Amino acid sequence: MTAQSITAQQTYLQVLPPDLDRARLPKHVAVIMDGNGRWAKQRGLPRIMGHRRGVDTLKDLLRCCRDWGVEALTAYAFSTENWGRPLEEVDFLMTLFERVLRQELREMMSENVRIQFVGNLQALPSSLQDEITKAVETTRNNPGIQFTVATNYGGRQEILQACRSIATKVQQGLIDPSEIDEALFERHLYTAGNSDPDLLIRTSGEMRISNFLLWQVAYAELYVTDTLWPDFNRAEFHQALSAYQQRDRRFGKV
Ligand code: FPP
Repeated sequence: MTAQSITAQQTYLQVLPPDLDRARLPKHVAVIMDGNGRWAKQRGLPRIMGHRRGVDTLKDLLRCCRDWGVEALTAYAFSTENWGRPLEEVDFLMTLFERVLRQELREMMSENVRIQFVGNLQALPSSLQDEITKAVETTRNNPGIQFTVATNYGGRQEILQACRSIATKVQQGLIDPSEIDEALFERHLYTAGNSDPDLLIRTSGEMRISNFLLWQVAYAELYVTDTLWPDFNRAEFHQALSAYQQRDRRFGKV
């Protein structure tokens, strides 16, 4: 590709590609950012370099969602199972989340991003909890894209804590069991108030949900690409959205 055509492609990808129908874009995209370790290994680098590059990918996807008109992005940054990784990698990730939050807060404000975290946040290092609180409070009223980061998140754990919370209210006489419906249940999830993802993207080829948003992805369209997360770019996102727009979303109807 010539330098001129590379520039042309970059400019083209700044706006919604013309073959995509703005009216049928997913409102909410969720991503399982898999393949950072493999990306690093392929280059003879330590795994943490893959995570570092993964942050750049996530930042650009967030901007791309904003540029193209997607209203919400949710990213799976750390699962409840990820504590089982080597201690150095877990420590690196916790420090990385903290540093990124501190460094990016000003930019999130100028770009009107509203950040939110879902997961069992009390189990995170207290310095990270402080950065999370600060970022969430500071960006709370921003009118732009909703960016949700799933950290120490597990779908089953989320459902269990919702059950516990509802059961406690039933015990206290605040809720009658006959009132428990989908809407009430959703109000007890970490994601209360958010729309469900319309499209779930998983990178690096694995055909699994991996305990991510189990309740919320009930009707999401799934898109899996072999591309490793650090290599997932706007052209890849374009492909995912094209595939999404070719799907016939029936929500169980005919
Ligand atoms: C999965 O790849 C990736 C992770 C567990 C971490 C993802 C986190 C980031 C990209 C940082 C996000 C930062 C913020 C502030 C939200 P893997 O390590 O499982 O890759 P592998 O399957 O190739 O080993």
